[in-house]
Amino acid sequence: MRTPLTNPFQPGSDVVPDVWAGRVEQLSDWRDVVRPRRRAGLYERGRTILGEPGTGKSSLVRRIARDAARSGDWVTPQLRMPSGADPLKLVASAVLRLADHAGLRATATQRVLQLLDRVEQVAVSGFSLSLRGADGTEPFTALYELLVELGRAAIDQDVVVVIHIDEVQNIADEAALSQLLIALGDALTHETEVSAPGGVLLKRFLPITVYLTGLPDFEDMAGSRKGATFARRFRTTTLTALDEGDLREALQPFVMNEWDTPDDQGGLETVRMEPEAADAVVALCCGEPFLFQLAGERAWNAGSAPAITERDVLAGWRGAEGEASAHVERILNRLPAREHEFVNAMADLPAPERTATTIASRMGMSSATQIGPTSQRLDTVRGIITRGKPYTFRNRAVEAYLTTDWPSTR
Ligand SMILES: Nc1ncnc2c1ncn2[C@@H]1O[C@H](COP(=O)(O)OP(=O)(O)OP(=O)(O)O)[C@@H](O)[C@H]1O
Ligand SMILES: [Mg+2]
Repeated sequence: MRTPLTNPFQPGSDVVPDVWAGRVEQLSDWRDVVRPRRRAGLYERGRTILGEPGTGKSSLVRRIARDAARSGDWVTPQLRMPSGADPLKLVASAVLRLADHAGLRATATQRVLQLLDRVEQVAVSGFSLSLRGADGTEPFTALYELLVELGRAAIDQDVVVVIHIDEVQNIADEAALSQLLIALGDALTHETEVSAPGGVLLKRFLPITVYLTGLPDFEDMAGSRKGATFARRFRTTTLTALDEGDLREALQPFVMNEWDTPDDQGGLETVRMEPEAADAVVALCCGEPFLFQLAGERAWNAGSAPAITERDVLAGWRGAEGEASAHVERILNRLPAREHEFVNAMADLPAPERTATTIASRMGMSSATQIGPTSQRLDTVRGIITRGKPYTFRNRAVEAYLTTDWPSTR
């Protein structure tokens, strides 16, 4: 039955939505590269997934983590870094829980028991342990050593350890961030000996992987400061808008009459979406995952008939226009002044005239080189524009907002 209770669209954060679109590359990277390679003892970097608010970073890694947990892997929950929090504390307690889950304590040697105690102290006092000059190993070393033990237990069980740290841009303390990255990076690059058939000792990497997710600002924090070491240990991907094909495919079960939902008699009922309605959702959301869920949710709730019509989509969207504007404003208002100005100048020009030189002169500069760093960041770090000939908007919602009446449909 089509009621708000059975609505499968989920505009909100940190959920794995029932109506999933795209991200095929990132999902297959986990399934076909990261997991099999780490499991086989081969080196593979951790992954950093960055993107503007609402691009689906948390959902993506939650989905990867969910799939991993289903195949028996040892997975931390999504560890969200609150602003100003001590990252070592949070990660240490999560790793301790995994160690318990792995039964590490039951078989532990004296050394490992001491290590567990030490990491428990880290979970309580965190980074500050090292500042107090307390005796014992440094907090990040203890965390690293426990990860090694956990990794060795994972080899025995033939599973992979997955650590997901979210909102990494909130780790404001440079020293704490550096310690966290060292502990994780050292675990990723640690080689351990295992005995192969015939008694030969082989070296292998641990079946551990780390996903860091957050806003593109993290790139500046970790990228430039940690430089090459960070790049050797983590591979960064920037998430951008979903393409129309992926969105259409996500709505296909509705269009094809295959979306079952409970009715009030304890049976199932199918909710359909007319093809024009699906087209309208795809067009209105401009590829933004959050807006896709929002448009879908509103359209579903705009009526109770078993078919969602284009009228439902438009009526639902009218009630969501404010939220849609707020979503784009959140992206724009976070931009440093120069980048914001650049995007505005670019939007003011007719599409074919959006070249570096023309945009620069709009901004009152004499040459395109002066805006080089700004446009580069908007392209590679944020994924908001593409520096082709001419420049184009990759964030279609930003483009629609600045150059048309969108989100208004009147
Ligand atoms: N692949 C996807 N297909 C469909 N909807 C998605 C997809 N990924 C995310 N969403 C939806 O987009 C919204 C935002 O997702 P999410 O919270 O993961 O974004 P985020 O990038 O982590 O945002 P923030 O920067 O605010 O933390 C959610 O409503 C989620 O359901
Ligand atoms: Mg998030």
